[in-house]
Amino acid sequence: MRVLVTGGAGFIGSQIVSAAARAGHEPVVLDALLPTAHAEPPAGLPASFVRADVRDPDALAHALRGVDAVCHQAAMVGLGKDFADTPAYVSCNDLGTAVLLSAMAAAGVRDLVLASSMVVYGEGRYTCPRHGAVRPGPRAVSDLDEGRFEPLCPSCGAELAPGLVGEYAPLDPRNVYAATKLQQEFLASAWARATGGRVIALRYHNVYGPGMPRDTPYAGVASFFRSALAAGRAPQVFEDGRQRRDFVHVRDVAGANAVALAAVRERGEGSVDAYNCGSGEPHTIGEMAAALAGAQGGPEPVVTGEYRLGDVRHVTADSSRLRAELGWKPEVGFAAGMREFARAGLRDG
Ligand SMILES: NC(=O)c1ccc[n+]([C@@H]2O[C@H](COP(=O)([O-])OP(=O)(O)OC[C@H]3O[C@@H](n4cnc5c(N)ncnc54)[C@H](O)[C@@H]3O)[C@@H](O)[C@H]2O)c1
Ligand SMILES: [Zn+2]
Repeated sequence: MRVLVTGGAGFIGSQIVSAAARAGHEPVVLDALLPTAHAEPPAGLPASFVRADVRDPDALAHALRGVDAVCHQAAMVGLGKDFADTPAYVSCNDLGTAVLLSAMAAAGVRDLVLASSMVVYGEGRYTCPRHGAVRPGPRAVSDLDEGRFEPLCPSCGAELAPGLVGEYAPLDPRNVYAATKLQQEFLASAWARATGGRVIALRYHNVYGPGMPRDTPYAGVASFFRSALAAGRAPQVFEDGRQRRDFVHVRDVAGANAVALAAVRERGEGSVDAYNCGSGEPHTIGEMAAALAGAQGGPEPVVTGEYRLGDVRHVTADSSRLRAELGWKPEVGFAAGMREFARAGLRDG
């Protein structure tokens, strides 16, 4: 199968390309090599490479020739520097997806695997002892400033127990990046209905592993900690360090894309489905910092009480549908994965 991997020079995309090549497929990479993600072009991708932007319809028409399926990873990631980044996020992620989908429609390419994200859910799932499942709104700046990080029950103010988010949880993006990721899903659904295409969206949790980009405002938290430790500095843990996430290894995410690419072809015309893609092993940010520091031999993490507006407190995925329906099984556990990541290089280019 010939697969176009957009963003195939990136952290996750390059692992998808390697996995596809190992499985005997023919990957084609289209990547703009954004300066926010790359200092210099990556070497040695086992694929033909087109340096182009997904917003370039002519480059796409060319790259889509003979392609059986598209695996769309290209996006601007992270929270960005400030609100001034908004037009760039929307253009890259949403206009980019729109141009890609219209080029796929014109080329008759019907199968799409889309990189989505857990950020589409906003705050995770919570239970109040009195009110059952509740959805706390965004946290107030005054609470965050005073170190009150846990969202409380919107009805009675009680403390809440965080739980696992399923695919049918309400969609509630809380920052610009999150809004653009959800819009990608909506655009892909509209494309599938209009063209008879088939789409599987994979809502990745926090992906980590070798080749993760260096610490820019666009990178993930594991990369900040890893970069600090590499420079002999203590990882700076925001809030109180007890915020929960699910850290999923990049090779497992590549594996999820492989099973999704195989499954999407078997779906009916116009079919649209989304799957959570997490390890199923929630951990706190503090635990992650401690695991990395331990594997590196220190220094110990420091809890700073700082926060980033737009960050959610807890969000952890229920990825059992991806396991049950597509037969995916994550293979890299938290402790082994963090040990490997502590020693593996980050990507400068
Ligand atoms: N890393 C995570 O934890 C995580 C979590 C959830 C979802 N995702 C999604 O996974 C995908 C891959 O992310 P990543 O972590 O590998 O990031 P990355 O920055 O390493 O890779 C993204 C790649 O896309 C390219 N790109 C960006 N905009 C482009 C455009 N307009 N045209 C062509 N190429 C473009 C970049 O040059 C880069 O090589 C993204 O869609 C992201 O939203 C990532
Ligand atoms: Zn309540």
